[in-house]
Amino acid sequence: MKLIERIEDYADELTAIRRDLHAHPELGFEEVRTSGVVTNLLESWGIEVHRNIGKTGVVGVLEGNRPGKTIGLRADMDALPIEEQTNLSYRSTNPGIMHACGHDGHTTMLLGAARYLAETRDFSGKVVFIFQPAEEGLGGARAMIADGLFERFPCDEVYGLHNRPGAPQNQVRVVPGVAMAGADFFDIRVTGQGSHGARPQESRDPIVAATALVQALQSVVSRNIDPLDAAVVSVTQIHSGSAYNVIPGEAVISGTARIFTDSARQHIRERIREIAAGVAATYGVETEVDIREIFGVLENDEALSHDFANLARSVAGESNVVVGARPTTGSEDFADMLRAVPGAYFTIGHEGTAMLHNAGFTFDDSILPLGSTLLARIAEMRTTA
Ligand code: NI
Repeated sequence: MKLIERIEDYADELTAIRRDLHAHPELGFEEVRTSGVVTNLLESWGIEVHRNIGKTGVVGVLEGNRPGKTIGLRADMDALPIEEQTNLSYRSTNPGIMHACGHDGHTTMLLGAARYLAETRDFSGKVVFIFQPAEEGLGGARAMIADGLFERFPCDEVYGLHNRPGAPQNQVRVVPGVAMAGADFFDIRVTGQGSHGARPQESRDPIVAATALVQALQSVVSRNIDPLDAAVVSVTQIHSGSAYNVIPGEAVISGTARIFTDSARQHIRERIREIAAGVAATYGVETEVDIREIFGVLENDEALSHDFANLARSVAGESNVVVGARPTTGSEDFADMLRAVPGAYFTIGHEGTAMLHNAGFTFDDSILPLGSTLLARIAEMRTTA
């Protein structure tokens, strides 16, 4: 590995920053302390800072010492509503909130790159450091874009990263083209008529209808989607009832769909609505369907992905870089930024921990200098037109 020595020299400080962020996690759009920490550090390194873009988002702008392109580097800052179950000395001090997705690490990596670039300024053009709020399904990327992110700070290219527990240590992975699924969330309210549990003939039972609906929805992927396309429809919640002897009046089922094309998204939405209407007619209930787009399909620019892979090989070594062919059914709201500006999203592997979004997840601080080095090298190499 060819890490930037200057960054290795302050690796301990990066670890301290990461652990401080870890101990003070904040939910999406509530990253007040976190964005304050980011702002103070950027300003201490002489970087121009703009706050409150997309509510709690922060943007830092740094000019190089000669003209060139403008490169955006993005990190996410929010934590999850999870009660941490580790016994780390720096575990969450905010009950019910935890950095279980490594966003404390991503933020720190970008800070590490920003410090190095501010100290050296040996690059062309301009670097825009994008510290994004609310990545976990709340639309923080969209909020920043709606707040004029790329009008106020136009970028030629934009890059982001995520840690990847369970992948080989230090493995850098990029998938050119479509890399991550788009996602919808849905709620279907089934309204019938409640009655005594002993007198079903007086009910229009929403539980029987809702369970039939869950079964019927399984046919969307198996019967309606081209077998050579991938999609997911998962019902993840059923809520109804409160007593052994009462047939309730209402049931609500909720879940998520994952798709890789906008046409599949539309097709699945239509089928969910049609099936819900059919089940309503069959069981004499009413169904009300609400489907919302939460994540766009994440599509990396093909050429920029390959350029990034080459850059990553020069940093992490040939054997540590994988150009993947298979997208994942996970989603990531950096997709919205990649829709506005071409670029690439990559992952860095680390071993030996519970998976993301698990209460036992621990981020491996030893990958911080690699993440900072990759981001810094992107800035140095891609700003040269
Ligand atoms: Ni994440």
